Amino acid sequence: MIVSHKRIALLPIELPATSDDYALPFNVAVARRRTIRAIAATPLGLLELSNLLWTAFGMNRIAGPFGGPGRTAASASNSQEIDLYVALESAAYRYDAVDHRLDPVATGDWRSLAMTRDQPSGTIAPVQLIYVVDLHRLTHTIGFEEPGLQDPEVQKSYYFVDTGLIAGNVYLFAAAHGMACWFHNCDRQVLTHCLRLRDDQKVLFAQSVGWPASPATEPP
Ligand SMILES: Cc1cc2nc3c(=O)[nH]c(=O)nc-3n(C[C@H](O)[C@H](O)[C@H](O)COP(=O)(O)O)c2cc1C
Repeated sequence: MIVSHKRIALLPIELPATSDDYALPFNVAVARRRTIRAIAATPLGLLELSNLLWTAFGMNRIAGPFGGPGRTAASASNSQEIDLYVALESAAYRYDAVDHRLDPVATGDWRSLAMTRDQPSGTIAPVQLIYVVDLHRLTHTIGFEEPGLQDPEVQKSYYFVDTGLIAGNVYLFAAAHGMACWFHNCDRQVLTHCLRLRDDQKVLFAQSVGWPASPATEPP
């Protein structure tokens, strides 16, 4: 597939302050955690998106380990090497956790690329989270420097684990808010091009988030 880069004419989206007094209790959310693949096209509100991204990998401490800020998911040596790219209907953005903001990356609807061709979903979920590792942030960590950060095999183990920790937060957030969520493969090659990634950035996985298409078919 040939996809041309489009000119960015979008402004960053300043996310509202999080507010989460309507979530289900933690134990109920854990009991309800599951993959729901049938997701309605209904968009999430900006506050819902804000809460989702903060829970996924937001900044929860200004002063975290080894001099860097703290995040809602652990990362190897606090390297914070995973970026969340967020594909919405109109454009793709990169989540800036420090400023709690979405920075535009490319105009256009890239959400279907976050699926693989053998995963028909019926409708396109309103939000596709795309997990991208920035290897430079491992080799030049803001956190604790250890030899493993320079070893490709060790790096791989770190960035896949760190992705899973964020994805787990997203699954629990979805369960706690009655949302649908699905972690899956994606078209890594085309997304790499569309998201204008450097050679030392890699697309890893994607996660669809939205409202369940049929709540009655997905009992708690
Ligand atoms: C690393 C990983 C890769 C996955 N890839 C896909 C995928 O490509 N397509 C898919 O439909 N589901 C995918 N899943 C979702 C799993 O199939 C699902 O989590 C599993 O069946 C357990 O279901 P549950 O999440 O409801 O407990 C993936 C999950 C993980 C953790």
